[in-house]
Amino acid sequence: MPTEYSLDEPQETIQSIDLGESESSAKPKLDGQSLLTACHDFCKKIKKRRIPELNLDMHLSTDVGLDSVEQVEFLLYVEERFGISIDPDRFSAVQTFNDLLTLVNEPADSEAALSGLSITELQRHLIHEIPQFYNDVDEQSGRKLKIKGKLVFDFASANYLGLDLDERIFQRIEKDLRKWGTHPSWSRAIASPTLYTQLESTLCQALGVPRVLVYPTITLIHLGILPLLASHETLFLVDDRAHKSIQEGVDLATAKGGTKKYFPHNDVAALKVELDNAKGYKDVYICIDGVYSMTGVDARLPEMVKLCKDYANVTLYVDDAHGFGLWGSSPTEENPYGTGGAGLLRKYGIDVRTDKVIYVAGLSKAFSSLGAFITCRSDEELELFSTAATFINSGPCPTASLSSAQMGLEISLSPEGDALRRRVYDLTKRFVTGVREVGLVAQSENFFPLVSVEIGTISAVTEAAKILWSKGILITPAVYPNAPIKRSMLRFTITAANTNDEIDAAIDALEMVRNRIPSAPYN
Ligand SMILES: Cc1ncc(COP(=O)(O)O)c(C=O)c1O
Repeated sequence: MPTEYSLDEPQETIQSIDLGESESSAKPKLDGQSLLTACHDFCKKIKKRRIPELNLDMHLSTDVGLDSVEQVEFLLYVEERFGISIDPDRFSAVQTFNDLLTLVNEPADSEAALSGLSITELQRHLIHEIPQFYNDVDEQSGRKLKIKGKLVFDFASANYLGLDLDERIFQRIEKDLRKWGTHPSWSRAIASPTLYTQLESTLCQALGVPRVLVYPTITLIHLGILPLLASHETLFLVDDRAHKSIQEGVDLATAKGGTKKYFPHNDVAALKVELDNAKGYKDVYICIDGVYSMTGVDARLPEMVKLCKDYANVTLYVDDAHGFGLWGSSPTEENPYGTGGAGLLRKYGIDVRTDKVIYVAGLSKAFSSLGAFITCRSDEELELFSTAATFINSGPCPTASLSSAQMGLEISLSPEGDALRRRVYDLTKRFVTGVREVGLVAQSENFFPLVSVEIGTISAVTEAAKILWSKGILITPAVYPNAPIKRSMLRFTITAANTNDEIDAAIDALEMVRNRIPSAPYN
């Protein structure tokens, strides 16, 4: 079972979301004496010189002598000690212990109202509450957007290398459009323009793999390939934070007789236990993200590859949507993401054949093109993967995307690609350092340009998103079920087309979040 939050059930069967705030029972969560004792202990912990005789009418500042930072720390201390969460939106109104007791024992309206909603209802509610959702963009210049007349800086684009704005690519697209028209509408089972052949061959060289198949999207790959791999003798072991599109693919695979089981996120020891128990299956597929899409953290690939070698029936199925185009061979100080940008296969020196890996990645992030691919270890595997329903029965990539993907790859594989990646790294480092300096927790492994800033409850992240919007910052809110239920986050993606000024504006906006939402985790 997943450790922190469960995606085990289809969404429709989840009747309500337990936010831990819904009980309206008569029993208070916290009584006055416990709160005073906690304050006494807290004062001792921070080595306050004089601790007065405490009573519930006392002011935290004037009577107890806690300054504003100490008040916030006390609040966190109370949350941790009693396992409760306090609505940050209402904490500024707290002056006395009695105020705090009232706040704790009467859950904030916003959070209480959210409890009991289904996931779909919650999502529909948040669409109205969070201004970053579902916007129409009127104009764009670099990463500056105009939305309803407002200037907004874009930290939601995953066009990491900024190739969506490259004049040379526009020209190449125009040339290919004149040759091939806007869209090759043949099924790939019937015919493909040579743009496909060229792109697949460039991908094979970049990745060092025998064959690849290009599809329009990663989602179509998962929905087509995972059921194709399934039989009554197949087990799919899915990381409990794997992308939703993998989970949907595995759900379809279970309809073909496969069995689905989750293992705790990136937990190699737990995975080993599952593999030991799975010796009776003919085939086991470990389904994971390469770089996790909410945290920017790498899968523990080298350890997993090593582990899989001990089991004849096991294959790793990796979705590297975010890593492809950024990570590459041999990271160094000069090229912190490595060179060439051909993803985690190159970063970790993985050979798909000997290391038993099926590698899937997309072209719609770093390469700004509607496209995705899956590696094939042999001609037989290529033939099998070419029979997937989503390969045969859905339309191909448009000409413009085949063209931009090809030219984007050529740029990425040249020294210019490494320079673009260096720029992304420098911008990300500036951002992460700044966020940590204002005191917020920025989840960032090796300054990968997908950075989630931890906020906490759904009400708190809603408030934080509103603050960012007021300062003209577009981000991706990460809320349940894409993040653990009480660890909602603001996800920033940073691209080569962002500027230092935009990064600094985002940090300033986050400083305001830090000041207005004291319950956000402290760095
Ligand atoms: C890890 C991961 N896999 C798959 C997808 C979906 O990719 P596509 O749009 O190509 O279907 C995403 C999209 O954000 C992702 O982050």
